[in-house]
Amino acid sequence: MASNYAGLLAEKLDQAGEGKQARLIRERLARAPVALASVQDASNGVSFGNLPVDGESHLHTVDVSHPKEDDAPLLLPSAIASRIGEFIANVQRYDELARVNAAMPSRLLAYGLPGTGKTKLARYVAAKLNLPLLTVRCDTLVSSLLGQTSRNLRRVFEFAQQRPCVLLLDEFDALASARGNERDVGELQRVVIALLQNIDAITESTVVIAATNHDRLLDPAVWRRFGFRVPMPIPDTALRKQLWAQFLLPYTIEGIDLNHLADISAGITGSNIEQVCLDTKRATVLASGSEISELELTRRLGLNLAITSGILLSTVEAEIHWLREWSPKHFSIRALAKLYGLSTRHIGKVIKEGSDHGTQERLRVNPGSTQTPD
Ligand SMILES: Nc1ncnc2c1ncn2[C@@H]1O[C@H](COP(=O)(O)OP(=O)(O)OP(=O)(O)O)[C@@H](O)[C@H]1O
Ligand SMILES: [Mg+2]
Repeated sequence: MASNYAGLLAEKLDQAGEGKQARLIRERLARAPVALASVQDASNGVSFGNLPVDGESHLHTVDVSHPKEDDAPLLLPSAIASRIGEFIANVQRYDELARVNAAMPSRLLAYGLPGTGKTKLARYVAAKLNLPLLTVRCDTLVSSLLGQTSRNLRRVFEFAQQRPCVLLLDEFDALASARGNERDVGELQRVVIALLQNIDAITESTVVIAATNHDRLLDPAVWRRFGFRVPMPIPDTALRKQLWAQFLLPYTIEGIDLNHLADISAGITGSNIEQVCLDTKRATVLASGSEISELELTRRLGLNLAITSGILLSTVEAEIHWLREWSPKHFSIRALAKLYGLSTRHIGKVIKEGSDHGTQERLRVNPGSTQTPD
């Protein structure tokens, strides 16, 4: 309640032209985010009225959510997990650290391939801090109208200052691409400068998380603004094993060789593993099965790997041929016949002729456009 009223007071002061007073109140609010948020039971009592909108499209530029800690934890290499722990401690005990000049601005940059858990990380941090999450899709923030982007940006940062929250700048590269790269150079330069000014203007204790797939595109000046920089890696064998076990729950995993599964799934992301598990669980329920079939799980993994490596399997025959080549140990002729409800003779024929059918087509993968077969 106190923080609510203080926020309202700041707004009123702003309207009355008392910007300096308003800013002092907001700074104080931002400095004690955790304490305040726990008093009011995390934002449930906080209303985020007047979400900022894009002047041109009239769409909201931020989205407010209240993440709770997930049943499925974020699984990361220990060095990265402990760095994230340090970031959370830096936010929670900011005042203590600031007293001995050891506090870092509460800004974290997460970078890594799609599906490595960056958005999940932001949700995890917000849940841990018991704060609402303000998500900004930077690509929608970038307006086609010249000058509008900087205005959008300023509104978002002002909005985030009103109440204790975690500000997530998702798809951050859309904003923070290096100066002088692609697009209208002048416009991009202005956006980057506006971004730097906005970051510099907010209090150091305001929690900002930026997520990007393209860390190399980031302007070095932006990069430097984030004291905590966390790479989100593709999971290694040990982590893949844990991810398989986690996402197969609540099914029993006793009959499944997780070590082998972890071995043959090298190179895929947590998101891919989750997808394969979900699909298999769904198929199990729909077939009224009581447990996960390892063969079916492996089949779906194989098909997922085909797609991620850009191979389009347009027919059942193409699938069969691909699976057989990928893992002859799993996909014996008999196993394939059972999986696909076909005769062993037919399967044998498909395997023999598969490559001549020309049924496997390479996808031309164009980032940012739909995938089309060659
Ligand atoms: N390391 C991980 N531990 C647990 N779950 C994971 C992990 N990596 C990915 N996932 C799962 O994959 C899903 C997608 O992850 P998320 O949306 O966070 O990826 P992202 O890095 O933000 O991807 P994008 O760049 O496409 O936005 C999550 O819901 C989560 O369940
Ligand atoms: Mg994401």
